[in-house]
Amino acid sequence: MTRLTGKSALITGAARGIGLGFAKRYIAEGASVAIGDIDLDAAQAAAAQLGDKAFAVRMDVSDQDSIDQAITAVVDQAGKLDILINNAALFDASETVDITRASYDRLYTVNVAGTLFTMQAAAKQMIAQGHGGKIINMASQAGRRGESLVLVYCSTKAAVISMTQSAGLNLIKHGINVNAIAPGVVDGEHWAHVDAMFAKLEGKQPGEKKAEVEAGVPAGRFAVPEDLAGMAVFLASSDSDYIVSQTYNVDGGQWMS
Ligand SMILES: NC(=O)c1ccc[n+]([C@@H]2O[C@H](COP(=O)([O-])OP(=O)(O)OC[C@H]3O[C@@H](n4cnc5c(N)ncnc54)[C@H](O)[C@@H]3O)[C@@H](O)[C@H]2O)c1
Repeated sequence: MTRLTGKSALITGAARGIGLGFAKRYIAEGASVAIGDIDLDAAQAAAAQLGDKAFAVRMDVSDQDSIDQAITAVVDQAGKLDILINNAALFDASETVDITRASYDRLYTVNVAGTLFTMQAAAKQMIAQGHGGKIINMASQAGRRGESLVLVYCSTKAAVISMTQSAGLNLIKHGINVNAIAPGVVDGEHWAHVDAMFAKLEGKQPGEKKAEVEAGVPAGRFAVPEDLAGMAVFLASSDSDYIVSQTYNVDGGQWMS
């Protein structure tokens, strides 16, 4: 398991959840990993847990200076940047008539602008280095179709799929592959938060929404981050050199496209 030996990766939002799972697997595959997160304490705790091939970088993907400083910090520490996983994102849910401008702005600033401008900053660094790179954006099955109470989040993830297509077409001339992963439902803190939101919105008992959703997964269970990690390694490895602008569903059979 050393498909990423010598590679330097930045994973945004990697202090917990899926990003942390990716970081663990990338280190096992030989990469050095910058844990980029707005929550520096959690990022430092994650890096300490992962050993000396991981380091924490405070970054807020909604802030351009913070993005630029994070890329500089990665290059200072690791000498280069080969792989970016654009993983940080926010979720919200509400009736369409109750969506606020504040919620819309918050999600679009992090999920869409954050993904775009972190991708742009990483691409500039990769172009300057002159030997290509790999950019992996985290989409979602939520970007494949709408959900009644999830208009804003679903639309941000549809935007991630679209940005992956255009950026992939534009950056492949520099040897930079841009692709995306669309998970289904992945267990972790995020889903505890989602379940609590739906309990409020739909008058459900705690855990009820999660159980309903799980019953609808063809594979019969929620994913764990490790279920997605193989795809994240593949898309960061030379095996994906001819793959451009694609979004891969890793969702236990929930969506086909
Ligand atoms: N969990 C799921 O079921 C699921 C399903 C489909 C897609 N996804 C996507 O996968 C990715 C990871 O999801 P997760 O469940 O691990 O999320 P999570 O909420 O557990 O973790 C997100 C991380 O992002 C960080 N973060 C938030 N705002 C940030 C900012 N402005 N700058 C930098 N970091 C910031 C948080 O501190 C946190 O550590 C997200 O893009 C999410 O939309 C998750």
